[in-house]
Amino acid sequence: YDYDLLVVGSANADLVIGVERRPGAGETVLGSDLAVHPGGKGANQAVAAARLGARTALLARVGDDGHGRLLLESQRAAGVDTAGVLVGGAPTGVALITVDPSGDNSIVVSPGANGRLTPADVRAAGDLFRASRVVSTQLEIPLETVLEVARNLAPGTRLVLNPSPPQPLPAEVLAACDPLIVNEHEAKVILGDTAGAGDRPEDWARLLLEKGPRSVVVTLGGEGALVASPEGVARVPSVKVRAVDTTGAGDAFTAALAWRLGAGEPLAEAAAYAARVGAVAVTREGAQVSYPTAAEVAAL
Ligand code: RIB
Ligand code: NA
Repeated sequence: YDYDLLVVGSANADLVIGVERRPGAGETVLGSDLAVHPGGKGANQAVAAARLGARTALLARVGDDGHGRLLLESQRAAGVDTAGVLVGGAPTGVALITVDPSGDNSIVVSPGANGRLTPADVRAAGDLFRASRVVSTQLEIPLETVLEVARNLAPGTRLVLNPSPPQPLPAEVLAACDPLIVNEHEAKVILGDTAGAGDRPEDWARLLLEKGPRSVVVTLGGEGALVASPEGVARVPSVKVRAVDTTGAGDAFTAALAWRLGAGEPLAEAAAYAARVGAVAVTREGAQVSYPTAAEVAAL
């Protein structure tokens, strides 16, 4: 394989303001100076993997504008192959982000060019798919494009999906995931009204597995993660750090996990490594700009 990881997904300019508290409807609050960072769940995953040392390619779409150039520059600086990044058709995606003193965020995304990444774009990238050991994607691009990703996997290539932002998924997509990676909110949306879902993450993991993925990871923030496969369910501990900005930490977790799985590591070990990568990311501001190298993860 030429690439350890091919990421198919979104690229956004993150417009970030720190706030003491979020405004309610009809309310105005003052916040910090504006920071403009490269972001987007797909672009974040690609940078995270490449900084760790994975040979990484990105299939995405940005606008022919300054935000698009910021995103391409960030990918290239991390060593991501950007030959698959398409330019034009709509403005680059934008994420409006507020970060509060506890490091938690809320995000509104305008998909822009991400919404124009089509199934035809996926079919045209057959060479990238055949050259990649693992393919990773998310839901900030059209669902029909994600479905086409599942259909275009080369034999032996593994698919990792973080369904964020969540929506119900076709059985064909679920069946291709190995693993499906969800947080609590995403688990509940994917499970919908499934009987017995309740409040226990162990039950979510088991029920999600019954929907077809070959493996499932449920991330639990400060409580670590659960990994589930036909061999059983295991808990992965969290790494305690002081959170400054959690934006994009889940993307770093997913990318690290995808890379380690591709290298042949068992699911629980790969998830434990990924948790360390995510832990470093939350101690620094921003998404891509906060991602560690392998040496920084080892030093944690
Ligand atoms: O997952 C974090 C990302 O979500 C941000 O970088 C923002 O662009 C949104 O896509
Ligand atoms: Na961060």
